[in-house]
Amino acid sequence: MSHLIAPSILSSDFANLQSESEMLNKSEADWFHIDVMDGVFVPNLTFGMPVIKAIKKHSTKTFDVHLMIVEPEKFIKDFKAAGADILTVHYEACTHLHRTIQAIKAEGMKAGVALNPHTNVNVLEDIIADIDLVLIMSVNPGFGGQSFIENTYNKVKALKKMIINSGSKALIEIDGGVTTKNAKQLIDAGADVLVAGSFVFNSDSPINTIKDLKNI
Ligand code: DX5
Ligand code: ZN
Repeated sequence: MSHLIAPSILSSDFANLQSESEMLNKSEADWFHIDVMDGVFVPNLTFGMPVIKAIKKHSTKTFDVHLMIVEPEKFIKDFKAAGADILTVHYEACTHLHRTIQAIKAEGMKAGVALNPHTNVNVLEDIIADIDLVLIMSVNPGFGGQSFIENTYNKVKALKKMIINSGSKALIEIDGGVTTKNAKQLIDAGADVLVAGSFVFNSDSPINTIKDLKNI
């Protein structure tokens, strides 16, 4: 499988989400990465279900919803109703991760687990067979435009080994500081999905930048 590109809404123009969605529809982007922040799990706030529902009307892409919130299990049905296709929760935010994953899958969504930069991939050993996606944070969650943490390559390689050994079908997604400079090395290490926010939306031509990332 060739790698997937998931532009992140966080760096898009929030006053023009319809035209940003239409631009993505025309682009080679595979997924639309949607960052939900609660000001508790991370030191920033974004938006919730009503905004996702509004964008969904204008989008043809898979909605890859990244929850940076505490107690995500409270809102699983609501995010499904808003249009999430993939729902990713943070390992650090879930006391009963296995139950939360099962609840996401029971709603008909793909289930992802995100790891902060300090969290070792080994913590997923007992759940890797049950999940569809692992999101490795390559910056500390909360903001776009931060610089890429180099240790990410080691984490991707270790996770890839675990996935192969366990027979899991989980995809590896990288989120934070992704550019055309590190994309190839990430794919070579085992990454399947690259999220890119500021690199795409702050460029002169987001459509061309998505194409560049897709054709690495
Ligand atoms: C950060 C978010 C990312 C963010 C990435 O907490 O999870 O999805 O949009 O932005 P860039 O690509 O600018 O690092
Ligand atoms: Zn994200």
